[in-house]
Amino acid sequence: METKEIVADFENWREAVDEAVALLTQGQVVALPTETVYGLAADAFNAQAAAKVFEVKERPSFDPLIVHIGHKKDLELVAIIPEELSELVAELATKFWPGSLTLVLPKKPEIPDLVTSGLPTVAVRMSSHEVMRGVAKQIPIAAPSANRFGRISPTSAEAVMEELGGKIPLIVNGGACRDGLESTIVAPEMTDKGPILRLLRPGPISKEELRKIAKVVKPKGSKADHIEAPGQVESHYAPATPLLLIEKDVEFVPEEGKKYGLLSYRGEGRNSLVDFIDWEEIEILSPGKGKLAEGAVRLFYCLRKLDAAGLDLIVAESVSETGVGVAMMDRLRRAGAASLR
Ligand code: TXA
Ligand code: MG
Repeated sequence: METKEIVADFENWREAVDEAVALLTQGQVVALPTETVYGLAADAFNAQAAAKVFEVKERPSFDPLIVHIGHKKDLELVAIIPEELSELVAELATKFWPGSLTLVLPKKPEIPDLVTSGLPTVAVRMSSHEVMRGVAKQIPIAAPSANRFGRISPTSAEAVMEELGGKIPLIVNGGACRDGLESTIVAPEMTDKGPILRLLRPGPISKEELRKIAKVVKPKGSKADHIEAPGQVESHYAPATPLLLIEKDVEFVPEEGKKYGLLSYRGEGRNSLVDFIDWEEIEILSPGKGKLAEGAVRLFYCLRKLDAAGLDLIVAESVSETGVGVAMMDRLRRAGAASLR
């Protein structure tokens, strides 16, 4: 199949939206930009189209998709809002939508079981990207990240082409993703002590921001913060090249004749490994002022570049685990864990 790419800029994004909607209503899948990462979109009410998403991504059917809506009122089309949570859900939607927050709520029967991998709940968000939002205003969209299963999420149309070129009819190029990391996923719940948010995946919306609205807790019965949800498997977000994340008690001992690449936070400074050895490749997450947000935007892009450099090992410096740094370290740890397999 030939994969067409159309550029959605300020002038013609409407045409791009129309072209995507035309294919989606025929049950096809297309790649669309969002503010977090590119998504592989299908009509959320069409089980056959959702099946194509799993097939194209080579994604196991136990890993559920995220449903994207275009209007806050459309939440009722895809999810059931429990009475006792309605105030909390409304507050979250007002504060964070459109934006990079995904809510897990009981699902409407109209959403095919395939979309939610048989779970009684559905993950929903409203993207702030004019293309995804423009499309979702016309039909709710089921869309996971537009990468092959377990791989690094794409933050540019070029990365989608690398992942899925030849397998899908259309990629809408909306430029680089502004957040660069997948959305924060929370499950709002009511407890004896009041409403809480279970943090299922850290992302661009930080715990600190969520805490202003409700208590934030880790998933049930887990040591780490990513076990409850199917799909929160460790081997996600993995480059093909092994990755070593430098954390406390982790030592990097270079071997003669091996090619090493460095993922550095700032490229200099007290904890930097830039001058440690003669690196084959260096990518700097935040070459500007050392801002976590800049690093988050560039994280997957830098990992892809290092992954393409024919290295034996990628060595990654840790970043500070505050704000979006929590999500960055989550992705880096998973990338490291995947290399151990
Ligand atoms: O930013 C994002 O969220 C991007 C863009 C495209 O919107 N999408 C994305 O989708 O990251 P994906 O499929 O790569 O990750 C979705 C994850 C699943 O792996 C799963 O862990 C979780 O969302 N999820 C989906 N439905 C769920 C549910 N009902 N309960 C718990 N977790 C769920
Ligand atoms: Mg993904």
